[in-house]
Amino acid sequence: MTENINEKITESPPLSPLIKIRNLSKVYVLGKEKIPALDGVNLDIYENEICCLLGTSGSGKSTLLNMMAGLEKPTRGKIYIDGHQVDKMSERKLALFRQKEMGFVFQSYNLLPNLNAIDNVGLPLAFSGMKKSLRVKKAKNMLKKVGLGKRMKHKPTQMSGGQQQRVGIARAFVAKPKIVFADEPTGNLDSKTTIEVMEMMVDMARKNHQTLIVVTHDEEIAEYADRIFHIKDGKIDNTFKNLAKDKRLAQEAQYGQYIPPDNEKQPDERTDEIIKDKPSFENMPIINKEKLEKVLAGADLNRKDSENKNGLSL
Ligand SMILES: Nc1ncnc2c1ncn2[C@@H]1O[C@H](COP(=O)(O)OP(=O)(O)O)[C@@H](O)[C@H]1O
Ligand SMILES: [Mg+2]
Repeated sequence: MTENINEKITESPPLSPLIKIRNLSKVYVLGKEKIPALDGVNLDIYENEICCLLGTSGSGKSTLLNMMAGLEKPTRGKIYIDGHQVDKMSERKLALFRQKEMGFVFQSYNLLPNLNAIDNVGLPLAFSGMKKSLRVKKAKNMLKKVGLGKRMKHKPTQMSGGQQQRVGIARAFVAKPKIVFADEPTGNLDSKTTIEVMEMMVDMARKNHQTLIVVTHDEEIAEYADRIFHIKDGKIDNTFKNLAKDKRLAQEAQYGQYIPPDNEKQPDERTDEIIKDKPSFENMPIINKEKLEKVLAGADLNRKDSENKNGLSL
């Protein structure tokens, strides 16, 4: 009797989350004032997921992202990444962990002004101790991937906002981290460049099987995600799967490329939609200098050994 091989196929076990957040709260203390920023957040994020934290200004999005990256300690609660409890890690361990597992994209790009595109992109590799010839090769490769093959020697001031953000994306992805965090990555960009930048990040994350977490106040941006977590007053008040996108992908699979119906306008044609109280993030640094150093270098930029080892003086 022939064996029915189908019976042998068992369902794959449920995935365990890459990022697990339990009962996370953060209260900032400013003098006598206590400012609650996060209030009992529970969240599971899986490998290869593209997620969006969506909420208005002040809702706690950046605070939550900073906690996940171990840049700030929670007041209460736990964060696990890949089984490691981030809130308990020492600064040194965290620095190495970030270097290996995390990439960051910022609203204000945060490129180092005195370095050209190649050196900006190569920065995370430099701090992981990679020799110069190899990191230049990898940085150049990444710059080509983000369409900046002709801007490699340009410094940030010699590039447009969109080009600078593409350098930022190349820098975030160059070391192939497991997770890429992007805090309002398109906040300073026009609508056409916003689409380019979002598509680029999503495409890279998908190709490399990375988890991408995008923080935004903009519902249009959230449409790029597989799952959207809506955050309000420091609480996740709604989590939803992006069904519109599923439907679109299904249509694409069935009928070829999706063609929007007439009533679905392109983002820059939407003049009829007036966005009320759209917060302005113009020139607002997302994180302070100390944090920037931590996320770019994975460690302290002033450390003598990293300067000597990598021939960098910043
Ligand atoms: N370092 C800080 N010190 C004091 N209050 C802070 C600090 N960072 C954020 N907050 C406060 O925490 C709340 C959430 O801020 P944030 O996470 O930056 O919101 P979002 O990124 O959604 O705009 C806000 O009320 C904000 O003013
Ligand atoms: Mg923010």
